[in-house]
Amino acid sequence: MAYCGAMTKVSASILSADFSRLGAEMKMLEASGSDWAHVDVMDGMFVPNITIGPSVIKAIRKCTSIPFDVHLMIQRPERYVTDFIKAGADYLTVHPEAEGDPLGAMGKISDAGAKAGISINPETDMKVLDKYLDKADLVLIMTVHPGFGGQSFIPSGVEKIRYVRKWADEHNPKLEISVDGGINRSTGAECVRAGATVLAAGSALFGLADMSPEIRMWQGFGPDP
Ligand code: DX5
Ligand code: ZN
Repeated sequence: MAYCGAMTKVSASILSADFSRLGAEMKMLEASGSDWAHVDVMDGMFVPNITIGPSVIKAIRKCTSIPFDVHLMIQRPERYVTDFIKAGADYLTVHPEAEGDPLGAMGKISDAGAKAGISINPETDMKVLDKYLDKADLVLIMTVHPGFGGQSFIPSGVEKIRYVRKWADEHNPKLEISVDGGINRSTGAECVRAGATVLAAGSALFGLADMSPEIRMWQGFGPDP
């Protein structure tokens, strides 16, 4: 495959971090070798949960230099992408299922010099991705229903990974393909075999006393030859 040789990236999802000591948690995940930090932004409208906004991202940006992979589970993302980029987001993914103008939001993200991503829910047909793929630096495939950590992996995401991998091999081998939800060493290895390049995971990493050996193991996963 075109991307052979690249190591799998790990994006530790801070939704499972101890929010009372978030600065220390950011330093810990960087020291543990996480390639990116996955930051879940929820508005209580697109999903039934509310998490964090730009001011928290601005605060934790001072604690670490690793890229922030900001997953916007919000309606009308075009209203907020500029604020999140100013706060320190590097990758920003929006949902096609969101109200408003997700495609326009991706244009704003790219125009601002950040990396644009599209994130798709488990029940959404993968064909919906078609009109976003050539605008994307990152595709994030959800393998749980967005809103909460600690849910079980929904296997239908694997077919979506293969679909996007095929498109990327033909059109943009640098496209990052991330998978998010219920990722552990076994589901993570399966997703990388199907073509994922980034594993986003919360509970499987933050539940460990030391996440570094687990991260190293996942980084060694490779695609099917
Ligand atoms: C869920 C979030 C995920 C969440 C994953 O809506 O998008 O990023 O943190 O958590 P785990 O790894 O526990 O499934
Ligand atoms: Zn997420």
